[in-house]
Amino acid sequence: MRLSLNVDHIATIRNARGETQPDPVTAALLAEQAGVDGIVVHLREDRRHINERDVRLLRELITTKLNLEMAATEEILKIACDVGPELVTIVPEKRQELTTEGGLNVIDNVSLIRDTISELHKYDIEVSLFIEPDIRQIDVAAEIESDFVEIHTGIFANAISEEEQFDELDRIRTSVKHAKKLGLGINAGHGLNYQNIKVFREIQDVDEVSIGHAIIARSVFVGIKQAVKEMYDLIKFG
Ligand code: PXP
Repeated sequence: MRLSLNVDHIATIRNARGETQPDPVTAALLAEQAGVDGIVVHLREDRRHINERDVRLLRELITTKLNLEMAATEEILKIACDVGPELVTIVPEKRQELTTEGGLNVIDNVSLIRDTISELHKYDIEVSLFIEPDIRQIDVAAEIESDFVEIHTGIFANAISEEEQFDELDRIRTSVKHAKKLGLGINAGHGLNYQNIKVFREIQDVDEVSIGHAIIARSVFVGIKQAVKEMYDLIKFG
């Protein structure tokens, strides 16, 4: 299981004072030195954290993979095609939300998402769809030629009882198996942290986990390299 780091929250702190520090690009480069496999940023319509300059600098400077999260809008699609990340992850986006809430409804937005995928493919950019662990959504993702799905792990992460966590893990496991059978690559993320990763790592066939909040929060106390290394150790050894 590979690990990619979402550095949006570094930009959130920077923007809180309208200054230049802390710099998300520096965070990404330090995380790469600690062995991270990829960098994730979400370029939001309202630019509340990451801005276009950050994305372009990351494209120039990082040596791992850039995964650009974006809503399927014309404006951001143009930027994505111009920047050329290795992977675009299409996510739902609401202005009022604190963070991405729930997965994309691919079934109800099939023609928009199909067109977005096909445009990105023209630029040799692979595409992932951020969805709930739901077989019907996975089937449609494969039908419209998505390369990956990213399974939303929010319900698993927020489960308040062991039983609820176990049930959701089962739903994720079944979805991952199904996606694998259809030839999709499989990422996962949202709410994964230093505790629940010990259980989550047992799921087979997840190619990569995408983690932001937990690692960035820990890095305030131990530094970003140490925070990344601790997560890696848990992914590898439990
Ligand atoms: N994957 C996607 C698609 C996301 O939108 C987010 C949140 O930005 C994450 C993963 C990471 O979630 P967290 O910050 O809770 O680790």
